Amino acid sequence: MIGNVQVDRMYLGDAHDLAPNPAIEPELIRRWSEWSAACTKHGTPTVMQICHPGRQSPMGAGSRCLTAKNVAPSPIPLNIGSRIVDRVASAVIFGTPREMTQKDIDHVVEQFVYTSRLASQTGFQGVELHAAHGYLLSQFLSPTANLRTDSYGGSPAGRVKIIVEIIRAIRKTVPADFCVGIKLNSVDHQSESALKACVEQLKLIVEAGVDFVEISGGSYEDPSMMSSSTPSRQPEKSARTVAREAFFLEFASAIRAQFPGTPLMVTGGFRTRAGMEKALTDGDCDMIGIGRPAVLKPTLPNDILLNPDVPKESARLVTQQIKQPWILKMLSNRSVGAGLESSWYSSQIEKLGRGIVHTIT
Ligand SMILES: Cc1cc2nc3c(=O)[nH]c(=O)nc-3n(C[C@H](O)[C@H](O)[C@H](O)COP(=O)(O)O)c2cc1C
Repeated sequence: MIGNVQVDRMYLGDAHDLAPNPAIEPELIRRWSEWSAACTKHGTPTVMQICHPGRQSPMGAGSRCLTAKNVAPSPIPLNIGSRIVDRVASAVIFGTPREMTQKDIDHVVEQFVYTSRLASQTGFQGVELHAAHGYLLSQFLSPTANLRTDSYGGSPAGRVKIIVEIIRAIRKTVPADFCVGIKLNSVDHQSESALKACVEQLKLIVEAGVDFVEISGGSYEDPSMMSSSTPSRQPEKSARTVAREAFFLEFASAIRAQFPGTPLMVTGGFRTRAGMEKALTDGDCDMIGIGRPAVLKPTLPNDILLNPDVPKESARLVTQQIKQPWILKMLSNRSVGAGLESSWYSSQIEKLGRGIVHTIT
């Protein structure tokens, strides 16, 4: 799986994100074909994750002018904390987004389709719509970020409409064997109404034609996907979940019960072969996503997880704890801490590209 390729060059998740520029399509086709050939050369199917950050595009990330507002379903700024320093940071870095018009929505649908067509044409096996982590599509799904009164808001079915339109339009454009998946955030599964709304939305998504669903959680407001501790806005964990290592398995299990035929993937927190095997044999999910440990040791599936010579007790993955300077600890919040950790891992990924593997200490 390839991380975030943004669909709109004007709005990136960070200044280094990749987004297709239709003005140089022939060059793009050449480069993306080389890229997919490198990814698939050992026979691994490669799915490109495609995304629009919506209100989570920081100032300077994208080709829009510095004074242009972000776009979002509703003009609601990010809430990264209640202290003055948090509010000022949110106002300066992200600002208050402007509410998308019907024309904006149609344009975003076209951009998701364009990027999918290009991915298919250049040899990728599929795309995954990023509708998690607080990005645009997850903002549409959310009853707190989407307060629209038109057909794209107002009810669980209204809030999922843009996603259904994107999936149907992609399906019309790409070959039948091209995989289309979606990444969704878990919701508070102990709240009957939240779970009911989520199931209603997922039913429409599955009917529109997805091949798999990936479960994650968190956003810039509450980065629980980067957790190594208990996420602040997650429900109390049951004893069964505490006993499990992954962050979002309990929600995945609730979804699995409702959608037994839909392949499910869970990402976040898996650290042992035993934990992964248990999630699979319990039937909570069918695929396991690994983030940070794979950055430190990209060969870990073959070298550790699937290697019969590595005994159960040693089949563990490691991560690097990133220490925050004390001044940052005092001034900043969880979003900044998660941002620092993410930046550290991003720099490791860049090093990997230059052939340098991190030495685990
Ligand atoms: C450097 C870095 C980049 C990431 N990029 C993406 C991304 O592009 N798309 C995505 O869905 N998640 C991304 N994530 C989050 C991971 O997919 C995953 O949810 C998170 O690392 C928790 O999984 P882990 O405990 O296995 O690391 C990224 C994480 C890191 C550390």
